[in-house]
Amino acid sequence: MDLIKYSKEGQLLNLIPQTTGNRDYYKQYCQNPTIVEPTAEDIKCELQLQALDIWEPLSIKADGKIVDQLMSIPKEKWRPYLRREGIMNNREGIALFNYPGISEEEGLSMPEVTKKLGFSPCESLWNEPTSIYKELTGIHKIFDYFSPVGRCYLINLHSGGFFPPHKDTPLLNRKTFRIVGLLSPQDILDNFEWEMEGRMLPTQHRRFYYCDTRKTHRTHSWYDNCIHVIMNIPKTWENVMKLMSICEK
Ligand SMILES: [Fe+2]
Repeated sequence: MDLIKYSKEGQLLNLIPQTTGNRDYYKQYCQNPTIVEPTAEDIKCELQLQALDIWEPLSIKADGKIVDQLMSIPKEKWRPYLRREGIMNNREGIALFNYPGISEEEGLSMPEVTKKLGFSPCESLWNEPTSIYKELTGIHKIFDYFSPVGRCYLINLHSGGFFPPHKDTPLLNRKTFRIVGLLSPQDILDNFEWEMEGRMLPTQHRRFYYCDTRKTHRTHSWYDNCIHVIMNIPKTWENVMKLMSICEK
């Protein structure tokens, strides 16, 4: 069976066309300059976030019980994450916080939700917790700290799974900043790589890191079940102050 086009169960995959990776910000600027214009709060928040490292360890950790909780997730809950036409990529995901009205199965990636709604909903508005989130009490401490959070999801990279080099919302007026939590024991034997600025970053088990995802990053897994959580935190001055208060250094 052609696993580039079909799931392991033989169903035709909901493929997302390949993109060039370029976003035409200048075209957006010409059409409507307000789309790319930062507010005073954007500039204040981004200047403060600039004081942090690109990969900043946080003092709130996931509880040890998260490993068993992840293992008890039914296998069918993991959905292929953003299958691109013609590209084999062994990666899956589960939505933890969804856009209102979008089902758990439909709300995994932005292109899929955009396709369904006809517009791209702001990541800070994905506030509805899913049933899987409620069961993962081992990570609730940091979610409660920043509540309400935006779009959050689990990524499970299997052997050969990857995210190619990319930037996430590099403009000053991004609506959220990102925190990454390493949830499976993937620091063992260099199972998993998160690379930025030409070097591998530490990926300590049960650690959360602020990640400056405006800068180019890529990930790669050499083994199965390397699970991490991506959190989108609404970029407000209050949340930036909360973040600064849990930086370990
Ligand atoms: Fe990213």
